[in-house]
Amino acid sequence: MIHLFSPYLFKISSMIQKVSVIGAGTMGNGIAHVFAQSGFQVKLVDVNTVQLEKALQTIAKNFDRQIAKGTHTEDQKRSSLNNITSFNDIATGVKDADLVVEAATENIELKLKIFKLLDENAPEHCVLATNTSSISITKIAATTSRPGKVIGMHFMNPVPVMKLVEVISGYATEKQVTDTIVSLSSQLNKIPCVVNDYPGFIANRILMPMINESIYCLYEGVAGIEEIDTIMKLGMAHPMGPLQLADFIGLDVCHSILHVLYNGFGNPKYAPCPLLTNMVTAGYLGIKSGEGFYKYVAGSKELLVSERFL
Ligand SMILES: NC(=O)c1ccc[n+]([C@@H]2O[C@H](COP(=O)([O-])OP(=O)(O)OC[C@H]3O[C@@H](n4cnc5c(N)ncnc54)[C@H](O)[C@@H]3O)[C@@H](O)[C@H]2O)c1
Repeated sequence: MIHLFSPYLFKISSMIQKVSVIGAGTMGNGIAHVFAQSGFQVKLVDVNTVQLEKALQTIAKNFDRQIAKGTHTEDQKRSSLNNITSFNDIATGVKDADLVVEAATENIELKLKIFKLLDENAPEHCVLATNTSSISITKIAATTSRPGKVIGMHFMNPVPVMKLVEVISGYATEKQVTDTIVSLSSQLNKIPCVVNDYPGFIANRILMPMINESIYCLYEGVAGIEEIDTIMKLGMAHPMGPLQLADFIGLDVCHSILHVLYNGFGNPKYAPCPLLTNMVTAGYLGIKSGEGFYKYVAGSKELLVSERFL
């Protein structure tokens, strides 16, 4: 079901004013950006001080981009940045939060540890959301004393641009909590879609097998990188080919989501292509490492196929 704005839900979500975002990486800075521009008080928490500083600079730069496009003003930038404060320590960062959105590294042990800390330190009424791409919401919820208030709030990258929020209702998530997150997502000017909690939810359950299949096509020599990406761009009207998209997401992230699908369903159709496994093992992770299916040169926007595939 696609949920659009409703005045009743607006009332529920208006109880949420203070939002803490855990993790100031790619997704965390975008999530802080969209909450701050919608007038929420945001506490951005990361264990890494350098990452926190970088996140604030990225948010400011992304506002400049919005100003250049004419969608935002200097005043909006200033007031939004004033809505964000940064913290190193989770306990202090969440102590008066109405909502926490966790966007730390995709690692199950880390997320379980963080959610235990959140449960101990956030107020009793606080909703605990995770931006995980694939980890079970039900499992994360089970480590807390408030499983009914734990939910998935899966933003897409880049967060300020992408309209979708995949809202994942865990096995124990209370209906009112789902309704609150749906309404809140609309307040952020996003389109929420509610799904149930099974491996990969919907977005990655459908996307990752497509990416994996395109890697298999390359591995088996059916076609080259440019041919595969061009066919999917021009033939299916995808804005980006699947191999370029895999580089953008991070090949390690794709690999780990495929493992979640493979283990979660026990079905070999989700097993990562051996070429993907090799690339991840060797550290060719896509944009973030400078090379994946394509090679990325700092300062250049040209898309160059990696020499390994020529
Ligand atoms: N990158 C994407 O395209 C994308 C899209 C949708 C969802 N996600 C999900 O969002 C989450 C974050 O992904 P990302 O790409 O932003 O990762 P990232 O590596 O860019 O950032 C993760 C941040 O978490 C911080 N962190 C690690 N341990 C922490 C702790 N104990 N407390 C506070 N901060 C901690 C790290 O210092 C880092 O800054 C993951 O769950 C990922 O699956 C990512």
